[in-house]
Amino acid sequence: MGKLRIGVLASGGGTNLQAIIDACAAGDIAGEVVVVISDMPDARALERARKKNIPAIVIPTKGLKREEHEKLVHEALMKANAELVVLAGYMRIITPWLVGKYEGRMMNIHPAQLPAFGGSGMYGEKVHKAVLDHGCKVSGCTVHFVSTDVDGGPIILQEPVYVLESDTPESLANRIHPVEHRLYTKAIALYAAGKLKIEGRRVRIML
Ligand code: GRF
Repeated sequence: MGKLRIGVLASGGGTNLQAIIDACAAGDIAGEVVVVISDMPDARALERARKKNIPAIVIPTKGLKREEHEKLVHEALMKANAELVVLAGYMRIITPWLVGKYEGRMMNIHPAQLPAFGGSGMYGEKVHKAVLDHGCKVSGCTVHFVSTDVDGGPIILQEPVYVLESDTPESLANRIHPVEHRLYTKAIALYAAGKLKIEGRRVRIML
């Protein structure tokens, strides 16, 4: 079996992207990142890709309708022959059209335990603030397949992170972030090894 061709969409710092690149290089994921696409020209994720000679493409949204923008993203993914699309801090909601093109082949990571604290408008610091405001004792992160329901697709892996008395949204985010890196690379490794099977809402892990 050849290496899985992974296309990554990222808008920000790209620490998850970095973890994926490193895991591919280390052989922990039987795959390679073949393209990184960003809507933000100054995303640090682009720099990380370029450093490793991975094609890094900016597709700005300005002046484009949502569908027009996504069509360009799709073209770039097709050109790179991406088999799996990984959303790594991509700040745009994917329309049903693009979701349809990558059904069961597009993943996202969310910095909380879905289905709580997810959905449109729930991103970044807002997630951690909502968790703390609710008085949760446990948070964590979730890797899931992308469906048309924002943050609602079949869950692949989850890991808990305990909330501390002293936590602020920032400190909680800082403890969850490294767990994300581990969880995301694990989920992608399982996918690349053909060990994930979607059965309705459940993702079976075949070990
Ligand atoms: C992560 O917290 C992820 O859960 C969310 O966006 C953030 C991206 O972080 N979807 P980074 O750019 O990978 O550092």
